[in-house]
Amino acid sequence: MRVLVIGGGGREHALVWKISQSPKVTDIYCAPGNAGTAEIAKNVPIAADQIDQLLEFAQKNEIGLTVVGPEQPLVMGIVDRFQEKGLRIFGPTARAAELEGSKAFSKDIMKKYGLPTAEYETFTSHELAQRYFDKETGPIVVKASGLAAGKGVILCRNSKEGLNAVDTIMKDKSFGEAGDKVVIEEFLEGQEVSVLAFSDGNTVLLMDSAQDHKAALDGDKGPNTGGMGAYSPAPIFTDLLRQKVRDKIMFPLVRAMQSEGRPYKGILYAGLMLTKHGPKILEFNARFGDPETQPLLVRMESDIVPLFEACIDGTLDQQELQWKPEPSVCVVMAAKGYPGSYERGKEISGLDEAGADVVVFHAGTKLEAGKVLSNGGRVLGVTATGPDTPSAIKKAYEAVSKIKWDGIHYRKDIGHRVSS
Ligand code: AMP
Ligand code: GLY
Repeated sequence: MRVLVIGGGGREHALVWKISQSPKVTDIYCAPGNAGTAEIAKNVPIAADQIDQLLEFAQKNEIGLTVVGPEQPLVMGIVDRFQEKGLRIFGPTARAAELEGSKAFSKDIMKKYGLPTAEYETFTSHELAQRYFDKETGPIVVKASGLAAGKGVILCRNSKEGLNAVDTIMKDKSFGEAGDKVVIEEFLEGQEVSVLAFSDGNTVLLMDSAQDHKAALDGDKGPNTGGMGAYSPAPIFTDLLRQKVRDKIMFPLVRAMQSEGRPYKGILYAGLMLTKHGPKILEFNARFGDPETQPLLVRMESDIVPLFEACIDGTLDQQELQWKPEPSVCVVMAAKGYPGSYERGKEISGLDEAGADVVVFHAGTKLEAGKVLSNGGRVLGVTATGPDTPSAIKKAYEAVSKIKWDGIHYRKDIGHRVSS
């Protein structure tokens, strides 16, 4: 079978890497891909949001399965468009992907079906949003409702910061039309964990747990990023919690989406806060997490392709998911300045030497005249496994130290919650 993976980040390199190990796959394409996917797939120079061109490519090249990495094309309706043409594609339809595309919609579903989440209110009027702070003074979270590449969430310590956040989102339009609506919600405290599941619209199959590090700097300081590193499993996520999350969050959500006439097929990603009152949902994403996918997929024993197919066919209840017991850790190497402005086009060296003992997933890289150049904020995800998490951390950082380019930034404390 010919498979097309859409996207060009670390998550997509990990997907291509895993899919390429399936005996069911003859050819694999990645659009647009990066220098890492180029080694195991044929890169196709079409951006992830150019749906017409992707559709034409899939039809011409008789693609048997398309797997979508990022949220943007899902929210734009790529799955609906492919399905209309009879093409097999893994991911939720536009109406189901609204779970990620609109935080207001997502919170309303959680409330309607009694799923555990922070108390909230939604506003489309700047003035009414401001008035919310007449009564609230404590810490609060202000979120742009629409897609904002993980940046539209502002954590506020008091009402002054809350008012500023409302201005940033609704008046200054810092996140464009994603900020036409805001969600203002209760500040939750605890550890965060990412729980990803396959869903075929009726049933769910949970993956092992993962935790990522969203803040740019050591000690969880600095601005939030897409994720500076991740590891799997998360020891804090016990079997009991897992059962609870499956029975009280994932299953009910899939049933809720069915009742709403928006059956959910694809990856369901719950960002959870483990509070002292139990797990609460911070957000749902409609896709694999980046960088959580990197440590998860190096640990996944099962062939992933039959799982994608079972989700499309509604036969997930006949599937099993096996994991390697060894923990894994992914350290993201970013360009200095990320998540703000940064330089591209720097030559990267040491990749072969570093890659001897770990998997170096590429994110923002490109091949030019035989050289690998940096081409994004998050550049590489160095992913190691070991008999325990501290050994995996050590192995990952040893490999990191062998990779060089001009202007590297990475966190030195990935996995600190497990190792300390
Ligand atoms: P979201 O995109 O909604 O998951 O938010 C991004 C990040 O902001 C989360 O991963 C949390 O670190 C933080 N966050 C979001 N909502 C809350 C909340 N209600 N309380 C505390 N932190 C939050
Ligand atoms: N690592 C967070 C995300 O993929 O949304």
